[in-house]
Amino acid sequence: MKYLLLVIVMLPTILLSQSGKEVYQNKCASCHKLYIAPSILLENFMEKNNTILHLTAPTINQIVFRLKSRIGDPKGDKDIHKMEIDSFIADYLMNPDKSKSVCLPKVIRHFDTMPSLKGKISVEEIEAVSDFLWEYNPNDFVEKKLKLVAYEKALKISKKEHKIIIIKLTREHCHFCKKMDREVFSDKEVIEALDKNFIVVEVDIGKETPPLGLKMGMTPTFIFVNEKEKIMAKIPGAWTKQDFLEILKEAVKAKGDKK
Ligand code: HEC
Repeated sequence: MKYLLLVIVMLPTILLSQSGKEVYQNKCASCHKLYIAPSILLENFMEKNNTILHLTAPTINQIVFRLKSRIGDPKGDKDIHKMEIDSFIADYLMNPDKSKSVCLPKVIRHFDTMPSLKGKISVEEIEAVSDFLWEYNPNDFVEKKLKLVAYEKALKISKKEHKIIIIKLTREHCHFCKKMDREVFSDKEVIEALDKNFIVVEVDIGKETPPLGLKMGMTPTFIFVNEKEKIMAKIPGAWTKQDFLEILKEAVKAKGDKK
């Protein structure tokens, strides 16, 4: 009987105590994406008028970064700073108004005003989601990055670890190079495949002379070179993730066949 009572007393609190992450997922995630890399956000908003990402609301990493640097005193007492941010969020969720926005004008102009969550979110949920935003750390979402090395170093590694060198020829304003960087070379599966069997050397043909006397007008072009500096393949053009993974698989197979 005693235990039953305890369960009955505790039940409401258990049901009510949603984590901040859950509140985010249920009440914010339909509009606010959790994370997009700052370099991509910068290009999207500062150069491309939101035509790359077509966002309809700021991302959480944008909001958190702006809130922490613009609300209250970022260098002052941590607890006070958190309270200042909590009260901004609590107010914004009830009374959204773009004139109170902490986002950059070049960002905010792409969005409609956020609909008020009055009557749709409880005080506990607001507190929980505020804690979630305060504790949010963008580094938790940063994906592995592609390692790039200079050709001479790549050759040394290639001889030692029997890896294939990929010389990636790019150029500054190369649209398809950037597209591939975004969609292929920042993909986890591609980075893992590259890490395992390849070493990537990036050469900007507008600024540097490619190794091995390579002359190539088109970017991107991928030159596959073995540890004896023999060119195995020259592959021009932009590829999707699936096609590029296939190309990598073929290269590993071709190298194995020659052994
Ligand atoms: C229906 C879409 C939608 C939902 C749901 C939504 N937001 Fe927003 N939110 C927006 C848009 C659009 C903006 C940017 C325009 C603006 O500031 O009003 C925004 C802006 C904000 C800002 C202010 C950023 C600034 O400009 O200073 C905060 C903070 C915020 N949202 C938090 C939240 C939280 C927390 C939730 C969930 C509890 C949430 N939003 C749910 C669409 C939404």
